[in-house]
Amino acid sequence: MATATVETITQNLPTLSLRSSPTDGQEQSEEPYRYAHLLPYFSPETYPPLTPFEHIDPASRALSHSNPRSFLDNATSVTELTPQLGTEVRGVSLAQLDSDARDQLALEVARRGLMVFRDQEEFLESGPDFYRAWGRHFGRLHIHPTSGHPQGIPELHLVYKDANTTFNYELEGSLSTTVWHSDVSYEQQPPGLTTFFLLSQPTTGGDTLFTSQISTLKKLSPQFVAFLRTLKAVHSGVEQAEYSRSGKRGGVVRREPVESVHPVVRRHPVTGEEALFVNRQFTRRIVGLKREESDNILRFLYDHIDKSADNQARLKWAPNTVALWDNRITAHSAIVDYAESKERRHGARITPQAERPIPALEGLQLDD
Ligand SMILES: [Fe+2]
Repeated sequence: MATATVETITQNLPTLSLRSSPTDGQEQSEEPYRYAHLLPYFSPETYPPLTPFEHIDPASRALSHSNPRSFLDNATSVTELTPQLGTEVRGVSLAQLDSDARDQLALEVARRGLMVFRDQEEFLESGPDFYRAWGRHFGRLHIHPTSGHPQGIPELHLVYKDANTTFNYELEGSLSTTVWHSDVSYEQQPPGLTTFFLLSQPTTGGDTLFTSQISTLKKLSPQFVAFLRTLKAVHSGVEQAEYSRSGKRGGVVRREPVESVHPVVRRHPVTGEEALFVNRQFTRRIVGLKREESDNILRFLYDHIDKSADNQARLKWAPNTVALWDNRITAHSAIVDYAESKERRHGARITPQAERPIPALEGLQLDD
């Protein structure tokens, strides 16, 4: 795996912007890369800490709608990926959805966890100002502390890998690239409805795995769930920041890392569903338990998340696909199985923040 340093980034970016295909031993094209203006840029500026805000969930507005799925009326196909998680839609252009339809979409994503919309060329071609306006409908846009973004568009989080560089958060020395997580769960108000799409993708590979944290919780025995509801856990952004400080992924930390205490079982503010809310990438320890107790419970829960294909769906990307997931009730993992092809994978994420996680157990104090 290529390891990006500040020096290689400086050297590589001009090359990247002039090539439409990877340069290592492959046929080179002089055609400019169509999305060169959206390549990762690592701004040296710094940001102050995030401040709390009140999140009004757009899905709540659709609850009283007479037909909250009418935004799908013109779909040519609506297919459930699995019984519990994920719906794939064709024939609906997201870029055409008005405010009412976007509220309905938010409710449907909250209910299905993941929605995949195919043939969204209109959405992709609408450009960064549209992407931001789209995201702002669903919440305050998160600006990532360490990832690359297009120059001047910090609200667009990018994942990027090609023959020469990677700006992904990839830990070395593991058997697998599978790392289940909920995005930036270390923030006090982690993201809710998240939109992600690929501007460029490998011929095959680079799928994304999703799992329902509602389903993973439901598999556990009632007695164990009752215990988990009493627990809260520390989520930390420190390791991710240190990864960048070591010179990888662009080498910048624009906002000092934070740690937040969240309930181990959270309740969705609109559907009322309970979901497990720990993940291997950012959850560090359970508050109040002895270290061995915390380590063993977390390891058990991570193993359960890892192994339970019963709860999972796998998204195979195609050009012009847009995926939306509810980051509060799902977890996901990239699959970096395409490295040898040296092809480009360039993804963009619009990440509205949501409420501070609501404990499933009423009265659980998070600030003790
Ligand atoms: Fe992610």
